[in-house]
Amino acid sequence: MDYVQDHTHEVMDKYNIPFSRIRIGIEERTLLQEVLDSGWLTTAGMTRRFEEEFAQMIGARFASAVNSCTAALHLGAEALGIRQGSKVFVPTMTFTASAEIIRYLGADPILLDVDYGTNLITPAILEEAILHHPDVQYMVLVHYGGQMAEMPALNSICGSHNIKILEDAAHAFPARLNGQTVGSFGNITCFSFYANKTITTGEGGMLVTDDEELHARIKTMRLHGINRDIWGRFTTKGSGWEYDVVEAGFKYNMPDLAAAIGLGQLGKAERWRKTRQDIAARYFQRLQGIPHLDLPVLNVDPQDHAWHLFPMVIKDSSRLNRNDFIDSMSKVGIGTSVHYKPLHRMTYYKDRYGLRNEDYPNSEKTWKGNVSLPLHSFLELEDVDLVCDAVIRLLG
Ligand SMILES: Cc1ncc(COP(=O)(O)O)c(C=O)c1O
Repeated sequence: MDYVQDHTHEVMDKYNIPFSRIRIGIEERTLLQEVLDSGWLTTAGMTRRFEEEFAQMIGARFASAVNSCTAALHLGAEALGIRQGSKVFVPTMTFTASAEIIRYLGADPILLDVDYGTNLITPAILEEAILHHPDVQYMVLVHYGGQMAEMPALNSICGSHNIKILEDAAHAFPARLNGQTVGSFGNITCFSFYANKTITTGEGGMLVTDDEELHARIKTMRLHGINRDIWGRFTTKGSGWEYDVVEAGFKYNMPDLAAAIGLGQLGKAERWRKTRQDIAARYFQRLQGIPHLDLPVLNVDPQDHAWHLFPMVIKDSSRLNRNDFIDSMSKVGIGTSVHYKPLHRMTYYKDRYGLRNEDYPNSEKTWKGNVSLPLHSFLELEDVDLVCDAVIRLLG
């Protein structure tokens, strides 16, 4: 059954063109059947296959499948050494998961403003932030919307200031920078397979790393701090019952049921990216030049963009504000979304850290008018044209 999957699923019947929609084919169904027939539903061979094929696609030595990107970020932060009292740069223009995992570990996020147009942390922003916070040792770096941040330059700045980067690539599979795949630039990169992402397992995530020690720590902490994995314990002939607990770990493993869907999706990820690139190109072609609208800024080769989101900004000068625009689009059956209300405006971060809107001028300018258009593999170019017609009618 095909169904609409986005945050507005309660009203899904009303959208002729949903904001997001998953595509499940014969590959996922066949692999799921294999798991159902295997007699073992949780983490085992299918998860291992998914990990191996994912690592191969990235070009990383190790991949660890987990039950969300939030779990991946938590495990990655723990493995990198973020602890009570650590300070961590995090962009304000992101989902709360990028920052909340810092708090899980008793550390504090230092929220940074981002570049207007890309919503990324740039080398200039990072250098300025280091001047004000010379004691920061970590950064969560979000590859916003599917466009990669400038990894080589950021790596070099972080290298000379002893800052470790945890990459949040929840939006960025499969993304590249100068032809090099996301996940092959740094220490640990985390991916999301949440229901609206470029490939999905319903809920799920993945960490990739080339570092054997980090991988070992992640594997142990992913499953209760136990020193051997559950599949081996229950299914390997002659394997004893005994195991040791070496840490107070978490329960973050991905079940084979989810891995089967992920593995089925993986083979189609490149094709779907191309579809999304064509959709983004059409949006640019049709919406360029509307006076009261800023389109996303492209800093990478168009072939390298994963295009999870097409986020644009309705300027203050427009006759229609963002919320009225969203209502009007919804009335004609077109789903949209907002990425994001920045974290410095969220009560928890604002109150806890005494944050002021005026310290985040770029994100404030974005936030007042940001809205993301539909972008998924079910969209035909005729649908994209219908969306563009509506945008032009309302804002042109
Ligand atoms: C930038 C970013 N990071 C992390 C997450 C968390 O992903 P998950 O829902 O898989 O935990 C999301 C989810 O939307 C996200 O957008």
